[in-house]
Parts: sequence; structure tokens; C-alpha cells
Amino acid sequence: MPRLTARERREGYQREYAFQKRHGKPFFPNAVFHDTIVSLIVVALIMGLTILWYAQFGPVSADPTAERVGGLLGPAYEAKADPGVLGYHPQPDWYFFFLFELLRIFKTPQLLIVGTIIIPTIWMVLLIGWPFIDRNPDRRLSRRPIALAIGVMVPVVLLTLTFYGSKAPGVGGAASTEPGAAAFAGGACSTCHVLANAGTAGNVGPVLDDAKPDYATALKLITNGQGGMPSFKATYTEDEISCLAGYVATWSAAVGETPGPNADTAKETYPASCEKAGGLFTGTASSAAGP
Ligand code: HEC
Repeated sequence: MPRLTARERREGYQREYAFQKRHGKPFFPNAVFHDTIVSLIVVALIMGLTILWYAQFGPVSADPTAERVGGLLGPAYEAKADPGVLGYHPQPDWYFFFLFELLRIFKTPQLLIVGTIIIPTIWMVLLIGWPFIDRNPDRRLSRRPIALAIGVMVPVVLLTLTFYGSKAPGVGGAASTEPGAAAFAGGACSTCHVLANAGTAGNVGPVLDDAKPDYATALKLITNGQGGMPSFKATYTEDEISCLAGYVATWSAAVGETPGPNADTAKETYPASCEKAGGLFTGTASSAAGP
């Protein structure tokens, strides 16, 4: 495309404008009619799918806990929500998996802001500014290597993040109902430590199933911190810390219901300290859901 001066461009535009004004179709009623028809088709499609969905599930059981089985278009509704459940792994809807995975990459408290605020903000600003950044009038792909590269890279990155995000374990909520598990999984520990019994997958601190700390080590680390491990003296009471240390010592490297190799070191205090700490620390659904 030959380069035009600003004046030539303006004149060209005015010629085109005058031509369209005389010979083009007016917005009203042509475009409005067009949009109305398309909107009606979309609404009709949604209504059709709704009718199909309603027609395809069988009689609904009166039992409120029964699963509502359905066909291709999904169940009528799912089993009743239970706020006392400890083993629940919340996950975002699939179209948020890429963000979910981004948060898992930047998961230390210091870096969290990069994944939650900085990257999405840069992304938004780039999108808004794109017409001002990219002023290349050429539409042929071979002349637009940078735009082409970015255009390919963005969906690849998003799809990759979505794929890994879909396989990530849910956040919060403990896998087991042992005393201390819910506090470990729901609190600060889950972001930094892997502990299979609690169902956590943090990647900052040591994998506790490998470290297998004994009660005294765990108690000392949780109380005073060390290196990258923060001190929890100000966060938790003595009973709560003792409960967490007992939980970690007992259930690190556990195989199913069989406690780990250092369980004996916590025998004196665990799970009694959890009972004293109360609330989320006791590990029973009813008290965890309590006030
Ligand atoms: C900010 C990340 C972070 C958080 C949050 C965190 N830890 Fe740690 N943790 C670490 C790091 C890093 C280490 C290694 C410290 C060292 O050895 O210098 C560690 C070490 C430990 C150890 C000793 C493991 C061993 O080597 O035997 C235990 C036990 C432990 N953490 C339990 C907990 C518990 C329980 C919580 C929650 C109350 C928690 N951690 C929260 C990062 C963290």
C-alpha cells in the first residue's frame, strides 16, 4: 500500500463518506432489523436447549440428598449443598482455569500480587491500547510477523495454562478429617507445603511427606519460623500450634489410615491439643462448621 499524506487520506475518506451517504443503506431500519433477527434466533436457541434439557431428565427423587441424574445437557440439579463438608475441593469454572493456574505459579505471598494484579492489569492496558500501538495498515499475514507471532502465542499460552489449571488440585478444604487437617489445609500452610493427608500442594517449603518432621522439630519451626518459614507465634495460640505440629508429625508420609513414621513423637499431645484448640482444629465436620 503506497504511503498517503494526511491530507490525501482525509480527502479519500470524505469521498467515500459522501458516496456511502448517497448510495449506502441507512442504519435504521436495515442494521436494527438485522440485529433483531439475530437476537431472536439466539433467544430461540436458548429456549430450545432449555426445553430439551427439561424433557431429558427422569422423575426427580424426593430425597434431598439424592443425585439428580440427567442426560447430555446436565442434571436437573445436584445434591444439596452441605456446609459441614471438610473434604470439598473448590475449583473455578473451566474458563477461569488459566487464571487459577497463574495464581499457582506465583504463589508465595510476596509474588502473589504479580499473578493477581500486575499481569492481568498489563494485559488489560495492552488490549485497550492495541489500536494505538499497532498502526500497520497492512492486512497480509506475511507482512505482519510480530502480530502473527503474538496472535499465535496468546491462545497457546492460555490453552496451556487452562490445561494445567484443569489438573490442579482444588484450593482449601482438607482431604482428611483428622484433627488439624482442616486448619493445615485451610490456613497458611497449604500455600507452601505438600502434605498428602491434608491434600495440599504448596511449592515453597519442603514436601512434608519427604521431610517427615518429628513433633519437636515441627513445634519449633511453626513457633519460631526459620529461613523461608514464617513464625506463627502471633497467629495461633499454643494449643493451636501444638495441634498443627502434632498433625504434621503424625500424618506426614502417612499411608492411608496408617500414620507416618514420626507419629509416636506426637503421642503425648496429639490429638488432645486439637480438642483444646477447638473450632477448625478438632477435625469433625460439626464443630468446623460451628461459630
Ligand atoms: C511462606 C511459606 C511457608 C508457610 C506459609 C509455611 N511454611 Fe513451613 N516451611 C517453609 C520453609 C521454606 C521451610 C524450610 C525452613 C528451613 O528449613 O529453613 C519450612 C519448614 C517447615 C517444617 C519443617 C520441615 C522439616 O524440614 O522437617 C514444618 C514442620 C513446617 N514448615 C510446617 C508448617 C506449618 C504447620 C505451616 C502452617 C502453620 C507452615 N509450615 C507454613 C515455608 C512455609
